[in-house]
Amino acid sequence: MFRPPGSLRPWRAGPCPARWGRCQAGRSRPQPLRLSQPAASGHGPGRRPPPPPGTWKVGGLRVPVPVPVRPPTFPGGGAAGGRAFSQGASRSPGSEPRYSLRTRLLVVAAVGLQLLLGWLYLRSEKEKRERQKRIEELRKVAIGQGDFQLVDHTGRPCSKGDLKGSWVLLYFGFTHCPDICPEELEKMSRVVDLLDRDPRLPRLQPVFITVDPERDTVAAVAKYVKEFHPRLRGLTGSPEQVREAGRAYRVYYSAGPKDQDDDYLVDHTVILYLLSPDGLFMDYYNRYKTDAKIAQSIKGHMTTYRSPFS
Ligand code: NI
Repeated sequence: MFRPPGSLRPWRAGPCPARWGRCQAGRSRPQPLRLSQPAASGHGPGRRPPPPPGTWKVGGLRVPVPVPVRPPTFPGGGAAGGRAFSQGASRSPGSEPRYSLRTRLLVVAAVGLQLLLGWLYLRSEKEKRERQKRIEELRKVAIGQGDFQLVDHTGRPCSKGDLKGSWVLLYFGFTHCPDICPEELEKMSRVVDLLDRDPRLPRLQPVFITVDPERDTVAAVAKYVKEFHPRLRGLTGSPEQVREAGRAYRVYYSAGPKDQDDDYLVDHTVILYLLSPDGLFMDYYNRYKTDAKIAQSIKGHMTTYRSPFS
């Protein structure tokens, strides 16, 4: 139903009221309603009171301004929500990647290098700790810590320091030993020959120290060592010097009673000692270790050894 502006009554057909300006121009039908903007403030003389916020003046009435309704957004794009959703993490198939392949490879290489350097540092620190621990263990064992001053089978003085720089396989015995000492020295010679087959390994120096200085003179020792190996070095000295050397390696020896020919046996420790080029005691082998086992063990020490003093 059409209502004329400013009236709440229903409109009736008939002559236009005189107050309708446009109808006075000869129109027989009223114009349709027009929405006007909110009226200006009207407080005070010549001013209208301010309209309530959010209203429009419709004819003589104030109606609330319609609130525009935003279309809902939906995942997956479309006219309603495609824009909002396309600004997220997903990327359209044809768009450029954020970082180039070269940049990504450089980042991966840098991270890998950092990890490698860290691993090398940790390994180096671990080796240092293990080396220090090994030195402490050898000091606790206290084998081979002392020095000795002897004479070799050529008559030259030989101390423990003179043997440094070479891997040494050391044995204490005596030249009149009927069975055990010859067996051990032959085994020692075979160990040397087994290791000599590998040219990558350092030369092993076999050394014999007598525990019978009274009978084992320089000449007697020189004759004796030639029976076993050309590199075998025989050492002797005064009873005090020999005792000092035996004490350094915790070697036990004791001469037995003499018979009618002034012959006697010497009871002694039967051990092969392995010394590093730094003069450190590394390992020992009893008479039940075969030459192959001993050679294998020495080879392992030679290939893994790192001087704790370097
Ligand atoms: Ni013996």
